[in-house]
Amino acid sequence: MKRIPWWTAALAAGALLALVGLRAQAQPRDAVKEIERYREALAEGNPAELWEARGEGLWKAKRGPRQVSLEGCDLGKGPGVVKGAYATLPRYFADVDRVMDLETRLVHCMVTGQGFTTAEATRQAFGDGAKRSDIEALVAYVTAESKGVVMDVAMNHPREREAYALGERIFFFRGGSHDFSCASCHGESGKRIRLQDLPNLTDAKDAQRAYTSWPAYRVSQGELRTMQWRLFDCFRQQRFPALEFGSEASIALTLFLARNANGGTFNAPAIKR
Ligand code: HEC
Repeated sequence: MKRIPWWTAALAAGALLALVGLRAQAQPRDAVKEIERYREALAEGNPAELWEARGEGLWKAKRGPRQVSLEGCDLGKGPGVVKGAYATLPRYFADVDRVMDLETRLVHCMVTGQGFTTAEATRQAFGDGAKRSDIEALVAYVTAESKGVVMDVAMNHPREREAYALGERIFFFRGGSHDFSCASCHGESGKRIRLQDLPNLTDAKDAQRAYTSWPAYRVSQGELRTMQWRLFDCFRQQRFPALEFGSEASIALTLFLARNANGGTFNAPAIKR
């Protein structure tokens, strides 16, 4: 018979003790607090950093038919300025005479700067476990450069005000098989689905906390998820038709949420269950 090394047994015993200890501790605690604790523990080494590093590489690499980098891309603070840019998005861009969020602007730069077609640039908007998304990596890099920056989304241009009003209408618009609106799940405090607390997005503090914590590495999915993905998935939860990537509706809704988060300190890419 093969002998089991002493340390294997010791490890197993230790692990068992740790488990028992954890369980004994976990019982009286609120599950939400447990998740919070778990988040804090994981935040020390957030796998989102892998996306950020890949995104930085993509930003600086000469790519596309024209073989140029994205370093000339203007995210609203001037060509190539990444620091703090996300905290001011979505915003009006005079060169295209419309409001854009980060993703739409990145696609714009990939098309007009690097020479990709829109179809090529948006082919893999979200990673699916098998194939990672370049856009998500770029979003991780750019958003990380706003960590610690106070949200400051302007509403000076009429187009920005229009987008906000549209986003607000979408937020409260009820429809679909369940007659849900965003507000059905996110319009009151203290609501939850199973273990998940639903943020009240009409409350300033909750709205700030929610918006400033995306993108996030989702432990349950092993993927970094962007705000666009969050909205896409909530449309699904709402039993609405799929939210089109980069559509006017998605930009308007993002601007509505971002503007309501003004004054909050941006703190993402985060890590979530
Ligand atoms: C059927 C209920 C439901 C509807 C309707 C719904 N959501 Fe959600 N939403 C959720 C759930 C569940 C979560 C995830 C909570 C978690 O995992 O902690 C969530 C999370 C979010 C978050 C991230 C919150 C955070 O702190 O991480 C945002 C932002 C959000 N929803 C926006 C919206 C918007 C905008 C709409 C309307 C288009 C909407 N939701 C519609 C259930 C819903």
